[in-house]
Amino acid sequence: MTGKKRKIREISIKRDDISVGYSKISESPGVDEVVIKPIGFPLIALGEERQFIRTDNPKLFNSYAIAQWSGTYVTEGTYIFDQFLFPDFAFEIISVKPGPGKITSGTSIVLQSKEKLIRKEFPNVSFDDIIGNHEAKRKCQIIMKYLQDPDRFGEWIPKNVLFYGHSGTGKTMTAKALANATNVPIFLMRATDLIGLHVGDGARKVHNLYSEASESSPCIIFIDELDAIGLDRKYQSIRGDVAEVVNALLSEMDGITNQSGIVTIGATNTPALLDDSIKNRFESLIEFKIFDDNERYEFLEKYSRRLPMPFKMDLHRLTNMTKNLSGRELKEKILKNALHLAILEDKDEINEEIIQKVIIHVKTSKNPMFT
Ligand SMILES: Nc1ncnc2c1ncn2[C@@H]1O[C@H](COP(=O)(O)OP(=O)(O)OP(=O)(O)O)[C@@H](O)[C@H]1O
Ligand SMILES: [Mg+2]
Repeated sequence: MTGKKRKIREISIKRDDISVGYSKISESPGVDEVVIKPIGFPLIALGEERQFIRTDNPKLFNSYAIAQWSGTYVTEGTYIFDQFLFPDFAFEIISVKPGPGKITSGTSIVLQSKEKLIRKEFPNVSFDDIIGNHEAKRKCQIIMKYLQDPDRFGEWIPKNVLFYGHSGTGKTMTAKALANATNVPIFLMRATDLIGLHVGDGARKVHNLYSEASESSPCIIFIDELDAIGLDRKYQSIRGDVAEVVNALLSEMDGITNQSGIVTIGATNTPALLDDSIKNRFESLIEFKIFDDNERYEFLEKYSRRLPMPFKMDLHRLTNMTKNLSGRELKEKILKNALHLAILEDKDEINEEIIQKVIIHVKTSKNPMFT
């Protein structure tokens, strides 16, 4: 540690002696549990990455933390600074039980992991919103029945399902609708979120994901963009960190027992690129297809009614003009842009002229999907 750094810390201790964050108040009660979260250094040099730290051994960390902070007064929302290994690294005090007081040798100090920040959602998408994709909806009915009454399935539970198909065809939306309909939490991940910075990080993230899921079970783990990690083994050798995630994922998927109450849904645009070891773990492969003419009509009819402006164009004509567009493209590129253009032009309805302009724009913007 540099002399400069030490000096800064002495100043901060003096200042903190008058506030509650760092001072030692001998008459305060001892606390049972303190949860802290790594925050980082109070100052970082320009261009330097923010650093985060973690522990592999909570028991060891507890001894280490008590050795330096025993006698320190702690209260929620304040900060505490490391003094040994990473001088001045700050931790936020997330909770103190039973209430503010001082750390003693009997206090348990828990380091909250950054990886706790896995997205767990209760979405509000409904199956009624999904057009087409009948096979996927049927499979979802089975999963729903399983999550509602796992005992009926014995050893024949749905465990791992792969949604595949063109981008914007409703894979993520269907997983969300499933979570909503069953009222269970869904852990939404992108496969690349699982890749770690250092050896072992990826495997740990996967393990954390599944152990958190098992605490919240019954639940759904949705791993989007699976192709980003589940590439054929011949490509994986280039990226050890990716292979590590895949192996950890395979072993977690194998470890799911009939009692786990966890359904893993993977999603990919390119199933052909997936390694067989991954593909074979999925008992159902469900294709999400681009709408046929009837479905596209149904989609346009449903979503055009939701626009906050009257929609005045023959929907059969529009259906014919938008062949091969996915649900996302119809919504985001055609309907949304038409509304925006109508607003820009101060119109009080979306008419065929506006839609034509949007379609010409989409066609000339070299969108490869628009044929
Ligand atoms: N079958 C569908 N029925 C209704 N809306 C759809 C459908 N497909 C797509 N959409 C609309 O497009 C949006 C994007 O769909 P979603 O994110 O589910 O696609 P995806 O298949 O997961 O795409 P990606 O492969 O790019 O992740 C949805 O939020 C919805 O508004
Ligand atoms: Mg998606």
